Amino acid sequence: MKLLFPRSRRSQAAVGAVNLSLLLGSASLLIWGGLYVGVYSGRFAADEFSEIPHGRPPKVVTAAVDPAAESIKKGAKIYSQVCIACHQADGNGNPGGGIPPLAGSDWVLAEGPNRIIRIVLHGLEGPVKVNGTTWGQNQMPPQAKSADNPAGLAPDDVALVLSYVRNAWGNKASLVTTEMVSAVAKETATQVGYWHPDDLLKLPATVGAGAPAGAPQTPEQLKAALKALPVDQLEALLKEIKK
Ligand code: HEC
Repeated sequence: MKLLFPRSRRSQAAVGAVNLSLLLGSASLLIWGGLYVGVYSGRFAADEFSEIPHGRPPKVVTAAVDPAAESIKKGAKIYSQVCIACHQADGNGNPGGGIPPLAGSDWVLAEGPNRIIRIVLHGLEGPVKVNGTTWGQNQMPPQAKSADNPAGLAPDDVALVLSYVRNAWGNKASLVTTEMVSAVAKETATQVGYWHPDDLLKLPATVGAGAPAGAPQTPEQLKAALKALPVDQLEALLKEIKK
């Protein structure tokens, strides 16, 4: 029989080559597909497809740690050990026992923690007005570590618990740092007895906003303070200024 379109030898060889490459191509596709399913299928469970190949530890995606949230969390623990007995879990205090609220308190929510750090460090003796209501039936004893209270809170604990108090029960205010507490502790090292609310209200709300007690306020006071310096220190200071 005569073929209508007789194939040349060359074209037959080409067809063979095409067939071979098709065969190899589809075979390798099949193998790749099988391997892919085998490796990623999660043991062929119908409801499972895993991005992570068997035997390889999953990539751990660590959520960024929010340092503010961490401080508030740690502060909550300290609150539940130290303040909760008086100010209660809901921060509403105990009106019957003369304990004022911290939730929504204008003392707690002041622009800065300068006054509440002092309250925790040295205690408070009222009468004290909180959101317009006068309290004074009880005093708040100092809660910080001191010679009289060796089991009290260290400066970092005071910072954490006050950060919590300023951000719990719907309160929202800036965090309190250990540096702030240490600065206030240094500034008030000579404080004797509990604070009186009137004296606290004379202080700025933010830590370090005012000159420290005893700092020279007038040119005369400054001159006197400079005169009190040893001569070598004064000369060194003059040299520094002239530079
Ligand atoms: C033994 C009970 C007691 C403990 C413990 C105590 N407080 Fe107080 N707190 C009081 C009393 C009472 C007053 C009000 C004092 C007054 O009337 O003079 C007060 C007042 C305050 C005030 C100012 C007024 C207000 O309501 O905002 C703050 C702030 C405060 N406490 C925070 C704390 C924090 C923080 C702790 C824990 C570190 C703490 N207190 C632990 C009893 C306590």
